[in-house]
Amino acid sequence: VNRAEKRGEVHAALWLALSVAGSVAFAAAYVTGATTQVQGVSLALACFGIAGALVTWSRELLPHEQVADEQHPLRASEAERADAVSRLISGEAEIVGRRTWLVRLGWSALGILGVAALFPVRSLGPSPRGQVGASNWKSGLRLVREDGSPVRAELLDVGSVVTAFPEGRVGPDHVTDMANDAIMLVRVQEDALRLPGARHDWAPRGFLAYSKVCTHAGCPVALYREGPQQLMCPCHQSTFDVLDGGSVVFGPAARALPQLPLQIDADGTVRASGTMSGFVGPDAWETGA
Ligand code: FES
Repeated sequence: VNRAEKRGEVHAALWLALSVAGSVAFAAAYVTGATTQVQGVSLALACFGIAGALVTWSRELLPHEQVADEQHPLRASEAERADAVSRLISGEAEIVGRRTWLVRLGWSALGILGVAALFPVRSLGPSPRGQVGASNWKSGLRLVREDGSPVRAELLDVGSVVTAFPEGRVGPDHVTDMANDAIMLVRVQEDALRLPGARHDWAPRGFLAYSKVCTHAGCPVALYREGPQQLMCPCHQSTFDVLDGGSVVFGPAARALPQLPLQIDADGTVRASGTMSGFVGPDAWETGA
């Protein structure tokens, strides 16, 4: 066993150890709910370790000398044959015995990586149906800001927009609700409205409310273009007509933004006067696909 081979074995073992550490870190990151970046980096280390070990094995442990095979090999003498057999046997025993631990370590690292890769299977179910897409908006609920303060009509000029939520559904205990229930409250000129007939009383004094969850893939529809009166999703540029019931005017979204009918009390409190006009978010959320 020469020094170069020993060094190669150590290198391969270090790569495999890196892979094992990456696999364990990935499983721990998944279970503890660490960020996807942490999960991605640890999984990459696990795979990188396996790849490094294979490359090291190939470059440092496999023989690289050229061996010429005679076209017409001559039979060696009995003494040479016996010597070759004994050297082969002793050599095989030496190689197998010396590298068995490395091969076992390699299989162990692969096995641990395989087990770690099974952890995300948990994410395939159950379907989020019923947890997302279902809105908590009901008739009579006040519109509140993120801090729970009520939205008041007199604070919004024409051309203004604010994000709002149903009262009682904000704060750290309602993070998922807030993501589903968020609406964009926009104020426009009342005489510019082109709402479908059945919605003629959904926008008192020019106040309109649309779901903030894009119907394409669920990104927040966070951009308001006052000139053309459009709401735009920054993810893939789906654009919705504010004046026309949130209909799609551009982009990959196939469905209008759900609209929330509103009423305004005499003191300026803005409330829902019904439920959302449709399912919140992408259609896939509704079907559970
Ligand atoms: S998620 Fe809004 S356009 Fe794709």
